[in-house]
Amino acid sequence: MPQSIDFKGVVFAPIAGYSDVGARKVSAMRGADMTYTEMVSAKGLVYGSEKTEDLLRTTDSEKIKCVQIFGSEPYYISKAVEHKALEKFDVIDINMGCPVPKIVKNGEGSALLENIPLAQEIVRSAKVVGKPVTVKYRLGVNAQNIIAVDFGKAMQDAGASAITVHGRTREQMYAGKADWQEIAKVKKAVNIPVFVNGDIVDKTSYQEAMTATGCDGAMIARGALGNPKIFSDIKGIDIENYSLKQDILTHLNTMLEFHHPNFVACNFKKHLAYYCRGMRGQRQIKLDAYASKTIDDIRRVIDRYF
Ligand SMILES: Cc1cc2nc3c(=O)[nH]c(=O)nc-3n(C[C@H](O)[C@H](O)[C@H](O)COP(=O)(O)O)c2cc1C
Repeated sequence: MPQSIDFKGVVFAPIAGYSDVGARKVSAMRGADMTYTEMVSAKGLVYGSEKTEDLLRTTDSEKIKCVQIFGSEPYYISKAVEHKALEKFDVIDINMGCPVPKIVKNGEGSALLENIPLAQEIVRSAKVVGKPVTVKYRLGVNAQNIIAVDFGKAMQDAGASAITVHGRTREQMYAGKADWQEIAKVKKAVNIPVFVNGDIVDKTSYQEAMTATGCDGAMIARGALGNPKIFSDIKGIDIENYSLKQDILTHLNTMLEFHHPNFVACNFKKHLAYYCRGMRGQRQIKLDAYASKTIDDIRRVIDRYF
């Protein structure tokens, strides 16, 4: 476990259904400085849900391991961070940006943007184990209520070690353009490290985002799906004879080390749909990927097209 964490660099985002142990491993191998699990329920952890623990597999390839939890009750947050399954993680990130109605309805995710005192209490509750606590949030609920600067300051006051700001509002979900200018205001207003998030898809957009915001680091979600090489491209790491197929197989085989083959076969289809992005004949590749039923079917698709 790193002694003290330098919050900077290019990091692989928490993405529900995608930031699995294999995706995190290939991202880290290609240069991601930190890697996040997808959001896991604090309550789910406390009540011993096996499905929740399954999302928390890691490998030693991950340099700085971050677990993202969500919840609205400080009690469950403080219990969850003490859970054995979280021991191996270096950083605890709290989700305060998820716009999904099911989550918001429970007062979790981006609902916390509307309750700053509770959001602060949650950060303080997560600090009980002494690990750095970070927060990922959105600009506000909607364009009329941009609160990113005040929220960032409040998270800093509550003891957050760093923040990631996704440059969209809850109402925007994933549509429209991320507003990096609002993130720049947050960076100016706080003393803790800030990560810019939203619409970074290559080295050019990374450089633009960093210049526009002056942030300490950048978080990449969709731009890294099917494209782990984005991290080495951004960092200027030259990989001799790069093989996407090798990354795909590492991803697949890592998942198989930890999960049931049926689960992996089902989950890997959507990764293949990203891995073939931009390739000729991608429509047919996706059809074949989605028609796969077993790991052997998945391997046949990989061998045929990559
Ligand atoms: C399918 C999907 C699942 C996501 N799951 C999470 C999640 O579990 N936790 C989280 O903080 N953000 C989640 N996000 C948001 C991303 O981490 C990121 O903030 C957003 O996609 C913007 O970054 P990008 O433009 O690089 O994709 C998710 C996004 C997508 C598209």
